[in-house]
Amino acid sequence: MARFDGKVAIVTGGARGIGGAIVQRLVSEGAKVMIADLNPSAETGENVAFVKTDATVTEDVQAAVKATLDRWGKLDILVNNAGIGALVETPDMEEDVWDRVFAINTRAIFLFCKAAIPAIREAGGGTIVNIASISGLGGDFAMGAYNASKGAVINYTRSLALDHARDGIRVNALCPGLIATDLAVGAVTDPVDAAFWFERIPLGRAGRAEEMAAVAAFLASDDASYMTGSIVTADGGITAHTGQPNAPDRIRQRKLRTQ
Ligand code: NAI
Repeated sequence: MARFDGKVAIVTGGARGIGGAIVQRLVSEGAKVMIADLNPSAETGENVAFVKTDATVTEDVQAAVKATLDRWGKLDILVNNAGIGALVETPDMEEDVWDRVFAINTRAIFLFCKAAIPAIREAGGGTIVNIASISGLGGDFAMGAYNASKGAVINYTRSLALDHARDGIRVNALCPGLIATDLAVGAVTDPVDAAFWFERIPLGRAGRAEEMAAVAAFLASDDASYMTGSIVTADGGITAHTGQPNAPDRIRQRKLRTQ
């Protein structure tokens, strides 16, 4: 028996990238999945459906949950994945950029949880996986809105976990590092930019969407049955680093220079 046989899931932002990989993974393990995305998905069929959804709009979110219940009769798993970034320092940031980042990265999670939790309760319990970011665990250059919004996702995950543990609903967050998707395309397509990023990542490369899907599927599955309120990083080791310089490397370079 596959891990998600008989389970019904909603994946926000599931048309591509990390969300798309999560959809494929859940379906490959037996789930029926509703993709709630602004943009249509190529991935529809017997076990995958699409409902056009702006995850920041209450009516759309309620309609997405209703469409899922109408089609498959219940809801067990919610993956809050839709998200956007913004690379701009505070004095230059337009107010609507800040508001849009917060609307998609945080308000959408609130709206989907509000609409979905009663249905997941009705199903006798289930799981919620919020896709946060390592950018919610620390600061990045010119990412104030993103850092603040993802930090909010992480602490909201803990609150949700407390509130709904006794409903049999586990709520966890996944914090990806740099993953090769459209969102991070600027960092990984140009070889010079990629090398600049990769030298800071202990594993020396960007992650793949499928690698995030594996962790998200684990958190959504009964394999993680004693995990709730957990904040799980999958980042090639970048947050293992305090940020202090690589002293042995510096010593090696100095020796090379004096040889
Ligand atoms: P992506 O840009 O490739 O895909 C995002 C998906 O969300 C798209 O299908 C888009 O249409 C959808 N979407 C955007 N706004 C929406 C809205 N208002 N309503 C419904 N759907 C909407 O992004 P990616 O890289 O797959 O990111 C997925 C999640 O992972 C995001 O929350 C992102 O912040 C997070 N993440 C990504 C990292 C990366 O390096 N790619 C690193 C850390 C976190």
